[in-house]
Amino acid sequence: MQTVELGRTGRQVSALALGAMQMGSETNEQDSVTILNRYLELGGSFIDTADCYEWWAHPGTPGGQSENLLGRWMRDGNKRDQVFLATKATAVPVAGPDLWAADGSANWDLARRTFSGAGAANLRYALDGSLKRLGTDHLDLYYVHVDDPATPLEETLETLDSFVKAGKVLHLGWSNVRTWRLERIRQLCERHGWTAPVALQQQHSYLRPKAGDESDSVVGAEQWGYLAAHDDLTLVAYSPILKGVYDNVPKRSSHHIMASYGGPDTDARFAAVDALAAEIGATGNQVVLAWLAQRSGPRVVPLIGPRTPEQFENVVPALDLKLTTEQIERLDAAGA
Ligand SMILES: NC(=O)c1ccc[n+]([C@@H]2O[C@H](COP(=O)([O-])OP(=O)(O)OC[C@H]3O[C@@H](n4cnc5c(N)ncnc54)[C@H](OP(=O)(O)O)[C@@H]3O)[C@@H](O)[C@H]2O)c1
Repeated sequence: MQTVELGRTGRQVSALALGAMQMGSETNEQDSVTILNRYLELGGSFIDTADCYEWWAHPGTPGGQSENLLGRWMRDGNKRDQVFLATKATAVPVAGPDLWAADGSANWDLARRTFSGAGAANLRYALDGSLKRLGTDHLDLYYVHVDDPATPLEETLETLDSFVKAGKVLHLGWSNVRTWRLERIRQLCERHGWTAPVALQQQHSYLRPKAGDESDSVVGAEQWGYLAAHDDLTLVAYSPILKGVYDNVPKRSSHHIMASYGGPDTDARFAAVDALAAEIGATGNQVVLAWLAQRSGPRVVPLIGPRTPEQFENVVPALDLKLTTEQIERLDAAGA
């Protein structure tokens, strides 16, 4: 598998990252281990999780199932040194039993209002918990999972910097954050000599967010321009295949992930992917993953989250799919 530099750290990471969000929840242990082993066999090493994965699938718990599973997998196969390990903190909801309805469904509105946040005490508690569950003494990359405007940035940044100085974290990242906040974070780091984030984890795919999209999480034109001007930040693009919408036409109108899309160019973008996929004998998901990695502009590491080993195998050919300049330009231009 190819690698790309993380920011300007000199550290190379896999060009395709693997998300473990569903591992230990929708994906059982055996299937998770199959996916993880296969990813390593293909030369991949960049694995992503979070302390809160997946509280919503396990009523009465704060999450931790994914980190626990990864910890067992690394310990049993002595694999810690083969993994560039990323996890996140701040998005564990603390509301208690009201988070789940009687049918087990999660109350996301309540969860978002009660996220644990990026205060110093919570970050220290969260890091200790993640290290314990993952069975390691350090993380390669540690993200603020959901930006926390209620905590002074100075408190968060000084605490994160102390983790780096203590050798418990090698690199920092931020997720679900607006561009102006990112700029403020970077300015404070420069002013105080604190460790700055080198990874930005946001939702990013081939479809462009529609005008008026209010999400903190989806990369829009402004954030893309900011990344283009700051190559010391690498975009780690979560939901790069938008939960499989490129290969599944009914999902295009039914899946909640489409809430940020559906602008006037969306049909043209889907049509361009469909046409190119048919032309070159690939799937839409593979075309989109290849485009994300090969288009010009800021460096992007797609972060996929297959639920089954079959879904993982289905996107593996994207690693060898080389799009021509003309094909990339055609995809770029669709719906312009
Ligand atoms: N920072 C954040 O806030 C944040 C948010 C979300 C995710 N993440 C991270 O990013 C990772 C990936 O995110 P994601 O799970 O949203 O990414 P994704 O790969 O876009 O979506 C995963 C879903 O896509 C479908 N899928 C995957 N491969 C497929 C295939 N070959 N054919 C058809 N459908 C396929 C499956 O849907 P079905 O289950 O319906 O079959 C699967 O559950 C997560 O594991 C997590 O580590 C971070």
